[in-house]
Amino acid sequence: MQPQWAKFYIKGDPRLIITPFLTSLNTLWVRVHNSITDKLQNLNPSWNDENLNQESRRVVAALIQHITYKEYLPLVLGKAMMDEKNLNILKKDHLQTYQPSHDATNANAFVAAAFRFGHTMVGGKFKLPKRKPMTLLESFSEAKSVKNAGTRPFDFLEGMANTLSNTLDTWFTPHFHNSFAATLSSEIDFDIGVISIKV
Ligand code: HEM
Repeated sequence: MQPQWAKFYIKGDPRLIITPFLTSLNTLWVRVHNSITDKLQNLNPSWNDENLNQESRRVVAALIQHITYKEYLPLVLGKAMMDEKNLNILKKDHLQTYQPSHDATNANAFVAAAFRFGHTMVGGKFKLPKRKPMTLLESFSEAKSVKNAGTRPFDFLEGMANTLSNTLDTWFTPHFHNSFAATLSSEIDFDIGVISIKV
């Protein structure tokens, strides 16, 4: 059974309602998607819902890819690796190296295991505008806050933008220790740090 408030957020993955910091980011992208859909509908009145949805998804995917390659990967990999692997976004024109025959799917070892390096970067406390900081542990039972009048999704986004992440290392925040059963409605609790090391 999901908690009562979970019905406000049908996100396709229960992890998206673990903490309002994640829920708000997802909410932002859903709203971007919908605003693109509105614009496309005005430009193309004959398109049906499926066309509008698929085309909006493509635009959102392109935006996320752009942020990933322009902002995120240079911080994670560093300039030398970005240059060596030819991952930099061009200042003008487009790359002409796309090969439709190449398999662009993610390796399972990365998606299910290696990318968990991000768990070491999660901090234990987040700033919030106009209220005291929220600990990660508090946030696990606060996903409903995104719905509360007092705290809007943008407050969580502003809070995250003003909070430094932890360093990428071998340490996990203690807030990850046995704190997910209630939020994920799981029978047993679990420790993300331990799982992330074991996989
Ligand atoms: C507050 C921050 C976060 C929370 C609460 C969180 C929570 C979770 C939970 C509950 C799971 C599923 C349980 C498990 O398999 O261990 C999971 C899986 C995972 N997380 Fe996180 N996570 C957070 C941040 C991140 C970040 C920053 C990254 C990467 C940059 C990341 C990457 C992953 C990956 C790759 C998996 C495995 C996905 C899969 O097998 O489908 N997580 N996380």
